[in-house]
Amino acid sequence: MFPAKTYVARRRELRTKIGNGIILLPGNPLSPNNYPNNAYYFRQDSSFRYYFGLNVPSIVGLIDADSGEEALYGDDFTVEDIIWTGPQPTLREMGAEVGITATFPLAGLADRVRKAVALGRKVHYLPPYRGETKLLLSDLLGIKPAALHDYKSVDQMFAVAEMREKKSAEEIEALERAFRIGYDMHTLAMKMCRPGIIEREIAGAIEGVAKSCGQGVSFPSIVSQHGETLHNLNAEGVLEEGRLLLCDAGGESLEGYCSDHTRTYPVSGRFTQKQKEIYEIVLAAHDHVARIVKPHMMYTEVHNAAYMVLAEGLVALGLLKGSPADAVAAGAMTMFMPHGLGHGLGMDVHDCEAMGERSFDFATIAERAAQSGTCIYRAAWRLEPGTVLTDEPGLYFIPALIDKCRAEGLYTGIVNYDALDTYRDFGGIRIEDDILVTETGSRILGDRRIPATVGELEAVVGR
Ligand code: GLY
Ligand code: MN
Ligand code: MN
Repeated sequence: MFPAKTYVARRRELRTKIGNGIILLPGNPLSPNNYPNNAYYFRQDSSFRYYFGLNVPSIVGLIDADSGEEALYGDDFTVEDIIWTGPQPTLREMGAEVGITATFPLAGLADRVRKAVALGRKVHYLPPYRGETKLLLSDLLGIKPAALHDYKSVDQMFAVAEMREKKSAEEIEALERAFRIGYDMHTLAMKMCRPGIIEREIAGAIEGVAKSCGQGVSFPSIVSQHGETLHNLNAEGVLEEGRLLLCDAGGESLEGYCSDHTRTYPVSGRFTQKQKEIYEIVLAAHDHVARIVKPHMMYTEVHNAAYMVLAEGLVALGLLKGSPADAVAAGAMTMFMPHGLGHGLGMDVHDCEAMGERSFDFATIAERAAQSGTCIYRAAWRLEPGTVLTDEPGLYFIPALIDKCRAEGLYTGIVNYDALDTYRDFGGIRIEDDILVTETGSRILGDRRIPATVGELEAVVGR
């Protein structure tokens, strides 16, 4: 937790930005896994934690933007609870740690909210993503769960995303701590990588690092020889000589800040010539992005710059014909990299995306989702000092997608489909680091770099 003054200042800024009405910030409850007393590991809602600091289930934060009143609603532990959990601080004691003096039982919240509604006051809330929170809001506001998105506060979404987007010095330190967890996860995976081991054994070991050094993984680890499947959670493969292993994994610091890195390397410890050629193209795109990111750039500019470097490499290899710029303009790169170059990173691994993408325009997301690889385009995202974004270009050879594009006659004259036939079993390569936009440019987070060049990887994996 940061000092109380951090949370006091954040709440004051939020209240000023929103201007009027009641602002609700529900923390997460425990979510039962298979029966009520066996819950998933607790993960606090990031916006609640950003403004109220507490990493404890079932507390709701309330800010009255007109009067300035701030309160926490939650129930103190009973003796019956304490038998199971041990002694716990009271809500009043926890509130004092984050600069809140007004604390009330959870049962009082309904009355407080209904009074505001009766007076015609606006009640602001973020689009809920968990069932329990939907039910809570539905009950408080008398809105059916399915209709909650229609009444979400766009003002609150903008204000929260704008504040969480710009990382302070103390947040950057927490992100650096998350980096160190990620570094240990990835270098352990590299050391374990050898023919005969099961992907799951590596995934389990690195997730253990995340758990023992921080509050766990920032997302389920992707450890797969099928790197062409973007979020491949099947880790039952046995590592084979000649294949590539893609490891996309990250941890969360104890303050709840995330890391997210990907490395791809040969199971045998030595890249084949063909693997090296593709790898060097992806690394060139990754490093190019890391060099050019600077304040005030639009994200789409960075995304397209990565596409250009990838396209140049594919033209040089003979997999694309004509000019790289024409290939990018025709959309041919969405076949080789059907995802965005990166995403925001902070208290969530895809930071603030629970609030929708930067344009907050849900109608057009559905439209774009119908087009391959562009459902989250982040078209309105401008990179400002304090923004953290991932830099994660990749080249993927996805037989089903290649076949579909070919059958539909897409990119004819641009994609060399015959040459591509020899890559059908290649898999996929992604390289990912986390970049902080500074006042003058940018830097990759971390005090060292996770091995990334062909030479560095061969030295660690092929020892
Ligand atoms: N870790 C998932 C991603 O890179 O987006
Ligand atoms: Mn990742
Ligand atoms: Mn990522």
